[in-house]
Amino acid sequence: MNSTRESWASKLGFMLAAMGSAVGLGNIWRFSYVAGENGGGAFLILYLVSILIIGVPLLLAEVSIGRKAQSDVVGSYQKLAQGKPWFMAGFLGVLGSLLILGFYSVVAGWSMYYFWNYLNGHFFTVPEEGYGAAFEVFTTSIGQPLFWHALFMVVTIAIVLTGVKKGIELANKIFMPTLAVLLIVLAGFSLSLEGAMEGMRFLFRPDWSVLSNPSVYIAALGQAFFSLSLGVGVMMTYGSYLSAHHKLPGATIGIGLMDTFFAIISGIVIFPAVFAFNIEPDSGPVLVFITLTDIFGQMPFGGYVGILFFLSLSLAAVSSSVSLLEVPVAYLMRAASWSRKKSAVIIGFVIFLLGIGASLGMGALSGFTPIGERNIMDSMDYVASNILLPIGGLVMALFIGWYFSKKEALHAADLTDSAVGTVWYLIVKFLAPVLILVIFMNALGVL
Ligand code: PHE
Ligand code: NA
Repeated sequence: MNSTRESWASKLGFMLAAMGSAVGLGNIWRFSYVAGENGGGAFLILYLVSILIIGVPLLLAEVSIGRKAQSDVVGSYQKLAQGKPWFMAGFLGVLGSLLILGFYSVVAGWSMYYFWNYLNGHFFTVPEEGYGAAFEVFTTSIGQPLFWHALFMVVTIAIVLTGVKKGIELANKIFMPTLAVLLIVLAGFSLSLEGAMEGMRFLFRPDWSVLSNPSVYIAALGQAFFSLSLGVGVMMTYGSYLSAHHKLPGATIGIGLMDTFFAIISGIVIFPAVFAFNIEPDSGPVLVFITLTDIFGQMPFGGYVGILFFLSLSLAAVSSSVSLLEVPVAYLMRAASWSRKKSAVIIGFVIFLLGIGASLGMGALSGFTPIGERNIMDSMDYVASNILLPIGGLVMALFIGWYFSKKEALHAADLTDSAVGTVWYLIVKFLAPVLILVIFMNALGVL
């Protein structure tokens, strides 16, 4: 059976796909609204610390497990720890990826809707009621957002159907660089707006008083996991399509750097504009959408920039959604012996159904708040990002740190018994698990 498993054409293919998975709506849409809700600068520091001392080391751990086992997220644990309960974490991963894609595809649908409205010229002129209100009318309606959500899922399914190599590797090569260039240009423009410095201060000058709030830590941790695509088995599954002679540590550092670059640069695009246009930084998930349209509205040739930007953002979202769909698909292809086609279509449809809830929760079902004040989408996001992903990462760390011997762990990660190897091992074995647990208990009010 193993002989028929797919693999990347090259290490570059893996890098592109993994970066494509990491870079997505999380960097632009989620990063800016979570940073905005959690006070800006101090959150940014916690986020960067989480990426550096938990995220990147665990990313290496996750990819290593997958490459060693050459199987999906459930199968990897089963194969490496036969008859032991570790594989149950794999099911959490499958569940997490379904939940995340359920709302991710709705937001990606919004992005496609924006692309379409710039393409057909509608958004070249300010809608009568203003961009913000037009967006609200759209997201709170029923049919239109569902149409774009469905369309986005069809695209995702189509790419996953065509298999690992052809579908996923290609889109990343063109649109990630485009997105990077556009963001840099946009950052320059945003910084030239009147009032921009207030936004820069919000993002870069920490207001330490927010650190007394335990929810800021869990938000930063959750954002780090979400942004790195860490903890659901995406990176494990992608690692499993990699053969032994590709070296992992450099690749994971590259993914971490790239992902962080995209987050910070989008912060520099969004926050100056948020303050320049008098938008509330804690506006929540709609923040990016109502801010960007104002930026494009003020910018020379802004309408054309809007076309390119939302096209690139939608494609960045596709390369992430494809990785999320790949988790359950890879699992079912092995465990149920379903074909790639059958798995992708059936799971994709299930995700479409989940997304209906997330989408209607913006309007028709907005009174339904499963967790605290959160609507359906925010609740799905909260459970997946702040709970399932860190638990998934915790189990991966414990698996490498405590189930493997040090020698096995270093070997799996292409590290040697050097200072670097030992530091990584100690982080994965002790520091990361302890930090994750402390942040959890803190959030629960136990500590
Ligand atoms: N990392 C992706 C982003 O930033 C989202 C994602 C989360 C993808 C978890 C896969 C797994 O947009
Ligand atoms: Na990301």
